[in-house]
Amino acid sequence: MKLPIFAANWKMFHGPSDARAFMKNFLVHYPRQHDRKVLFFPNALSVTTVSELIRERPDLETGIQNIHWEDKGAFTGENSAPMARDAGASHVLVGHSERRHVFGETDAQTNLKVKAAFRAGLTPVLCVGELLAERDAGDTEATVLRQLRAGIDGVDEAQVASMMFAYEPVWAIGTGRTATPDDASTVHAAISAALKTAIGERALGIPILYGGSVNRGNATSLLAAPDVDGVLVGGASLDADGWNAIVRA
Ligand code: PGA
Repeated sequence: MKLPIFAANWKMFHGPSDARAFMKNFLVHYPRQHDRKVLFFPNALSVTTVSELIRERPDLETGIQNIHWEDKGAFTGENSAPMARDAGASHVLVGHSERRHVFGETDAQTNLKVKAAFRAGLTPVLCVGELLAERDAGDTEATVLRQLRAGIDGVDEAQVASMMFAYEPVWAIGTGRTATPDDASTVHAAISAALKTAIGERALGIPILYGGSVNRGNATSLLAAPDVDGVLVGGASLDADGWNAIVRA
């Protein structure tokens, strides 16, 4: 039985002061739950703040939104996986659509980042998703599976079994347009089948999250869809009360 996962991607919002205020409010209203996991992905500057505030809460974890694929070096402005781990992160988003489509991250780079995450003991959450044009051309599955296979290329099977994946159709991110639970299920089933082909039965335990305009009104129906094991939420995770409503879905 996989515990449902609720992941908040704060993107470039909530610096350390706002993150502290958010978490203080959230922690008061959200006592420890045993039947779900909640992950926070603050910006890099707020990772320590969040991880320190949830130290006593094993049902809550902190991740970082992006890492460089090298462990250290002359890469001005970048954060490495060992640094993220040192700051208290346990997870890292890899290949988020904004990294791919705003910053030009390639499939090969996502693969290097997945490997860097494992070297440092971080759990990678590999994000995959098609552009609207790819969807309209009937290439949803081909795109998503290409991103998936490239991301895990050369990664040890036991490590793949410990990863998380997120299906985030690019046309649904921050647009208010959500995939229907059926759309999500169809793609999640294809991801699940590809993972099973790659690593066998161990793939059955891998959580596959859905992301793209998830909010308190649609979270329950998306989570009820077959093969949807959790949600990755951007805009609707920024307000502590709204996020509190979603994590109770
Ligand atoms: P959104 O973002 O919920 O604002 O659509 C989701 C994401 O980018 O992870």
